[in-house]
This record gives sequence, C-alpha cells and structure tokens, in this order.
Amino acid sequence: MKIVTIIGARPQFIKAAAVSRVIREKHTEILVHTGQHYDTNMSEVFFEELDIPRPDINLAVGSGTHAKQTAEMMIGIEEVLIKEEPDYLMVYGDTNSTLAGAITAAKLHIPIIHIEAGLRSFNMEMPEEQNRILTDRISTFLMCPTDTAVENLKAEGIQRGVHNIGDVMCDAVLYYAKLLENYASEYYFSHLKAWNGETVEVQEKWYLATIHRAENTQTIETVREILDALEGLEFPTLFPVHPRTKGIVKDVMREKAYQNIICIEPMGYLDMLYFVKHAQKVVTDSGGLQKETYILDTPCVTVREQTEWVETLVGGHNILAHPTKEDIYNKLKNTIIDKEAKQNYYGNGDAAKQICEMLEKNYA
Ligand code: UD1
Repeated sequence: MKIVTIIGARPQFIKAAAVSRVIREKHTEILVHTGQHYDTNMSEVFFEELDIPRPDINLAVGSGTHAKQTAEMMIGIEEVLIKEEPDYLMVYGDTNSTLAGAITAAKLHIPIIHIEAGLRSFNMEMPEEQNRILTDRISTFLMCPTDTAVENLKAEGIQRGVHNIGDVMCDAVLYYAKLLENYASEYYFSHLKAWNGETVEVQEKWYLATIHRAENTQTIETVREILDALEGLEFPTLFPVHPRTKGIVKDVMREKAYQNIICIEPMGYLDMLYFVKHAQKVVTDSGGLQKETYILDTPCVTVREQTEWVETLVGGHNILAHPTKEDIYNKLKNTIIDKEAKQNYYGNGDAAKQICEMLEKNYA
C-alpha cells in the first residue's frame, strides 16, 4: 500500500507522528510538507523532537492569501501525485493544506482518507469550517474522532465510508505524555524563550494562553480585551505567541505595559504538554489544545463562540467565553468542574492502528 500524506501546519505534524509510526511498519508513505508553517519553532522543532520521519518533499509554499496559498499547494501536490501514483491520499483536519490535498487528489481519482472528519463549528465564516466541509464531501474514508462527528455527517447525508476510530490527537497525547517524566522540570523551563530576549522568570504557578484564530486576532480591541483579562489573574500567564498574533500583540503592548503576561516564542510539543499539564488553567482558541487540556486534566477556557469539540464542555472541563475581558476573567475565576463527568470520548489511543487496519482490509 502506498500513501501520500499531506501536512503543513503545526497540529498536523503531531497527528502525523502518531499515524506515520503505525503506517510505516508495513507500508510506504510519502510525506509532503506544504510549507504552510515554515518558522523553525512552528515546523522544524516538531520533526526533531517527535521522532517523525522528515518530509520527503517540502513544497515551501509559505504564507499568502487563502487562494494563493491553496492554489500553490495544489500545483505542487498535483506533481507529486502524478509522479507517485499512490493508492491513497491522507489529509488531516481543516487547514488550507488539507483542502489543497483533497481537491487535487479528487480530480485525479485518488481515494482520500480524511482524518478528523465530521467536525463542525457551524460557522461558515471560518476558513477551517469551509475546508472541513469541502474535504468531507469528496473523501472516501471519513475517519471521525467522535460520535458527534459521525452524527454531523449523517445530518449532511454522508454515511458511506464513515468510521469513528477515536482521535489521533489522543494517541499522540497519551504516547508523548509518557515521555514527559524523562526530564526534570528545569529541562522544560530552560527552553522558554522570551520574545524580547530576556530570561523568563516563572514562579511555581502559572496560567497558559494561546490565541491565534483569525476572529480573535484581527482587531486591537479584541486582543486588548483578552490580554486585559489575563493581566488581572493572580498568577502570571505564559503566552507562547503564534506568528500570526505577534504584530498585533506588540501594538497593544506598546499602549500599555502588561506586568503579568510573559510573551514567549512558540514551544515544541513536549514542552507544551508539560506547561499545559501543570498550568492552573489554560486560555485558548486552538482546537487541539481544548482536547489536550481535557486529556491532561487541566481546566480550559476557550475564547470562541462555538467549539467542534463539544464533549470537552461536559462537566465544565472546557468553557466557552466571548472575547471580552469580563467574560474571560469571570469564567477563569468562577468555574467549578465536575470531575466525575469526564469520559474517554476521544478513544483509547489506538486510532492510528484502527486506521491502518481498515485501509489494509479495503486494499486487500
Ligand atoms: C493555520 C490553520 C488553522 C490552524 C493553525 C495551527 C488555515 C486556514 N488555518 O492557521 O486552522 O489552527 O494553522 O497553528 O489553514 N506565519 C509565520 N510563520 C509561520 C506560519 C505562519 O510567520 O511559520 C504567519 C504569516 O504571517 C501568516 C500567518 O502567520 O500569514 C497565518 O498563517 P497561516 O498558515 O495562513 O494560518 P494559521 O493562522 O497559522
């Protein structure tokens, strides 16, 4: 069996790490990095530390408008698919790299495996929602992480090729969380890089925040509200800043000095797991982080109007907040979590194995 896998953005490197490990035991995989994420600490560091194979091909597409970025990826992916003639094309999640891979393969009649199929935010203005819906529509194998995802597809009339195999991100968290204890806490602290070059002083307790979604990072007012909420907390917040967010955060911080927020460069995956696991709470708009906090038992406030990961909301483990100072602060401070309500909605860490077995059965 020969599979071409398309990756391009940070969370996809992590998911591919879990799946590639299993696929490559018996099959041929050609890993194509679109180059959507290209900064060293957004890309290279993941290949170094997760023990995933290096991409066989890097299309080095980089940033651009949605159309330009997606179109350039498609041109590069088409060349690879024509040359390699794979049995399947595998894509992850909802990024522009996902959509570019899927459309290109569909035109060449190469069956598409969509991992993380069926998720919906029901907000068609999000580029991710557009990417998901379009990719699901043309996929042959729709590998869903949850029952909710299966139901979402059913409501759209898609039932063929739909399988709930659990979440590959859960595979990754469970696998890598075991490695966390290999190092003492100093190891993780020594990796923290302040973006102003100063040494990072963190006390024993911290919050952790990540914000990068287009809807939260487009106006100074929204970013200010979020930062103001964090500034009022009783412990400092570690804030690894996505390149998308950097410019606007600097603008807000030029107007006012924030004493309680520590801006740092994006972290590697193991470091992130460590700082999430030991955080008081996490504030985020990332999909992956909502689940990581859930699996690692750290309470989370998600700065979004809706989430695709609705299971994390049960029992208050994760709570949605409007992007206002008051709402974020109140939800961080006044939340009681029902720990008994926790279930392993995201599987047992064997999603990659199930994907591989299903493909083998189909291929035979
Ligand atoms: C993308 C995904 C998003 C996912 C996120 C994970 C889409 C539409 N969005 O968002 O779903 O949650 O990845 O991190 O595909 N930039 C750099 N260096 C980099 C990467 C980006 O400087 O290595 C800057 C560029 O200015 C770029 C901006 O960040 O224009 C946004 O990057 P882009 O890849 O378009 O989307 P993300 O916001 O990273």
